[in-house]
Amino acid sequence: MTPFRPAPSWLADAVFYQIYPQSFADSDGDGIGDFAGITGRLDHLAWLGVNTVWLNPCFASPFRDAGYDVSDYLSVAPRYGTDDDLARLVDEARRRGIRVLLDLVAGHTSDEHPWFTASADDPEDHRYIWTDTHTGSGTDAPPPAGFVASPGARPGAYLPNFFDSQPALNFGYARTDPAEPWRQAPDAPGPLANRAALREIMDHWLGLGLAGFRVDMAASLVKDDAGKTETRKLWTELRHWLDAAHPEAALLAEWGDPAVSVPAGFHTDFFLQFGGPTEGRPLRSLWNNRQGTDNDGWDPVDCFFDPGGKGSPSTFVDAWREAVAVIGDGGGHVALPTANHDFARLNCGPRTAEQLPAAFAFQLTWPTLPAIYYGDEIGMRFIPGLPDTEGSVLGPRYNRAGSRTPMQWDDGPNAGFSAVSTPDSLYLPLDPSPDRPTVAAQRADESSLLHLVRRLIALRRATPELGAAGSVDVLHSGYPFVYVRGGRYLVVVNPRATPATCTADAPDTPDTTHARALEGSGVAVDGRTITAQGFAYGVFDLTPQEPSV
Ligand code: BGC
Repeated sequence: MTPFRPAPSWLADAVFYQIYPQSFADSDGDGIGDFAGITGRLDHLAWLGVNTVWLNPCFASPFRDAGYDVSDYLSVAPRYGTDDDLARLVDEARRRGIRVLLDLVAGHTSDEHPWFTASADDPEDHRYIWTDTHTGSGTDAPPPAGFVASPGARPGAYLPNFFDSQPALNFGYARTDPAEPWRQAPDAPGPLANRAALREIMDHWLGLGLAGFRVDMAASLVKDDAGKTETRKLWTELRHWLDAAHPEAALLAEWGDPAVSVPAGFHTDFFLQFGGPTEGRPLRSLWNNRQGTDNDGWDPVDCFFDPGGKGSPSTFVDAWREAVAVIGDGGGHVALPTANHDFARLNCGPRTAEQLPAAFAFQLTWPTLPAIYYGDEIGMRFIPGLPDTEGSVLGPRYNRAGSRTPMQWDDGPNAGFSAVSTPDSLYLPLDPSPDRPTVAAQRADESSLLHLVRRLIALRRATPELGAAGSVDVLHSGYPFVYVRGGRYLVVVNPRATPATCTADAPDTPDTTHARALEGSGVAVDGRTITAQGFAYGVFDLTPQEPSV
C-alpha cells in the first residue's frame, strides 16, 4: 500500500478556532454574521494566538440545517457576502499567519441542489440512492424504512443522510443484495461520479487559497459498511489524490474515531464528546455533562470536568492512548474541541465559568490539537430554551441553538455583534444575562479567562514539549489530574469544587523540588505532594533555574 505523505508540518502547531459564521460578527447590519465581519475581527484572533480557523458551511443553501444542506458547493451564500469577500478574508487571515478551512459536506446535499432536482425527475440518474421499484403509493409496496417519497416525476423514494431535506449522495453500498437493487457497488458509475465531484469541490477551494476542510459526517459515505471498510478505502483514495494535488492541505474528519479515520487518510479527527466507538464502554467524554444537548442513547457517565468530582480522566486518556497507538508517530493527530455547533458549550449546566481555567489548562497542554469553539475563550454560556432555528432541535432535550448565539464583543448594542436596530432580527437571541462575558471587558482585565487562554496558547506555541509531539507521563489519574509533558512541564488540574491532594510517588516521577509556576491558581507542589484547591490548575517548569548573578 502506498504510504501517505506526512501531514503538512503546520498542522502539528495548529491551534484551531471554530467560527459559526452566522453568529460571529455582522458587518452589514442584517442580524446575521458575514465574511467581512470575520475579517474585521482577525486582529483579535491574531492577538489571541489561534492560527487556524475553520468555518461551518458558508455555501449556497436553503438553510434548513444551518448550511449543512448545500445547494451549490462552489458559490458562497449571499448572506455571508461574495466570493471576493471570502477571498479577502482568506488573504487578510494569511497576512496574520492564520489559515482558513471550510466545511465539506461530503455525504449529502440539499434537496434544492440542482443535482437532486434533476435526479428526482430522471430514473437514469444515480447521484443519489433511489428505490425506483417502490413508489409508496397505490398498490405498490411502501418505500423501505428510512426512505422518503420522491418529490419529482421519478417514481420511488430516496435515502436521506440526516434530515429528510438532505438526500444522501450515492457512494454505494459495501454489501449489495439482489433483493434491493438500489444498492450499487462503490465503484459503480454513480458513486464514482460523486467521488470525482468531491475532488472537484476540494480542488476549487484549495486553488483559491483555502487550507483544507473539516469533513462533515465523514464516516457516513458508503452505506451498510461494517467496519467502515469501503468508506475508509474511499478516503484513502482521496488522500492520495490530495497528497499529489494539494500536499499542504489538511483534512479534519468529523468521524469521532481517530484510530479508524486517521489511518484511512484524514490528517486529524475530532475526538468528539459524543458519537465514536462507545459500545460496551463508557462515553469517553471529558465534558459531556448531558446538559443542553442530551441524547437518550448516551451512557449515564459522570464526566471528569464536573464540580461534583465523580468522574475520571481515565476513560478519555485510555481511548486517546488507543488512538495514538494505532495512528503511530507522525501519522496524524487527534483534535480535541472545547465544544462545537452541535454540542453544549463548556459553560453549561452545573459547570460554570469558575471551572473553565482548569478546562483550558488541560486542553492547551495535552498532546491533542486544541480546537476552541468561538466564545468559549470568554466563557460564553449555553443558552437553553431558544426557538428551533434552522434545524437546531434534534430532540426533546437537544437544541443546538444554545451553542450558536451571537458572539459577545462588548457592551454596545447587540453586544457589538450587529448594528441591526431590531434585536428580534438577530440570527439568534443574545445571552440575556446582564453579566454576560464580553471580549472587551476581558481584554481589559489581565486576570480574565481570555487573557489566560491567550497566555496558554502562547506558552504552547513557544514550547515544543507542550505541543502535539511532546511526551506525556500521567502521574495521577483522578482529582487532581497530574501529568508531565516532555519530562519537564508539570500540569495539575482539579475541575471539582472541593480540594484534592495526591502524592506523585511513581518510581519515574521527575524531581519536583524546583517546580516553578508558569501559570496557575490554587495549586501547591510540596515535594511529591500536590494539593489543588477547588477548580485549581497549574503549569510548572520543573527544571532548576540558573542562579542569577
Ligand atoms: C454537522 C451537523 C449537521 C449534520 C448534517 C453534522 O454532524 O456537524 O451540524 O446537522 O452533520 O450535516
